[in-house]
Amino acid sequence: MSESARAMIEASRVARIAALRERLTEQLKGTNQITLEIGCGHGHFLAAYAEAFPEKYCIGVDLLTKRIERGNRKRDRGEFTNLDFIKAEATELLEAIPPHIHLAEIFFLFPDPWPKKRHHKNRLIQAAMLDRLAALSLPGQTRLHFRTDDADYFAWSMNLVSKNPAWKLLPEAPWPFEQETFFSKILPVYQSLIAQRQ
Ligand SMILES: C[S@@+](CC[C@H](N)C(=O)[O-])C[C@H]1O[C@@H](n2cnc3c(N)ncnc32)[C@H](O)[C@@H]1O
Repeated sequence: MSESARAMIEASRVARIAALRERLTEQLKGTNQITLEIGCGHGHFLAAYAEAFPEKYCIGVDLLTKRIERGNRKRDRGEFTNLDFIKAEATELLEAIPPHIHLAEIFFLFPDPWPKKRHHKNRLIQAAMLDRLAALSLPGQTRLHFRTDDADYFAWSMNLVSKNPAWKLLPEAPWPFEQETFFSKILPVYQSLIAQRQ
């Protein structure tokens, strides 16, 4: 790739992050903590969660426009003022989070498992992702929740979380809220992991 093509790609990334930062700064004026679902799909989980916990401000992020639109239709139908679904790449959204905002809770539900070894680099759970989430979290408070039907992805995530000094596995902690999602319906056998920011 040429130098100028690379510069254009980087300029678009910076512009997208700046636009996201502006949007988040405006909509999060009244709060300093959010519940974040990464790869929220059609928004089944987070819409039900936002309804159950109106005191929590919930944001779902996903790459796919149609899924975000479906999520926002659920928000509009329920007239939930504590919920928003944003189309973005997860790491760009994390980079855009305004400095006064912390992640109080983080959810990854049935993220794409990328089963082939050469594709493992595409998995959302990576050492760098755990570091990034830790930097935005509240020590002693923030909980990260991860659920997958894929045994290898579960072992991968357990390994990365247990090796990361910012996160402590909580094997006894109960899953905070059950809600069927599009993917949990077709993948009914799964394992869950909960970790707390140290
Ligand atoms: C298998 S689906 C699970 C959706 C939903 N959590 C559920 O349980 O029904 C994984 C979702 O993660 C989204 N996704 C994958 N990589 C992403 C990224 N880097 N940033 C944001 N969303 C991403 C995909 O678009 C997809 O909707």
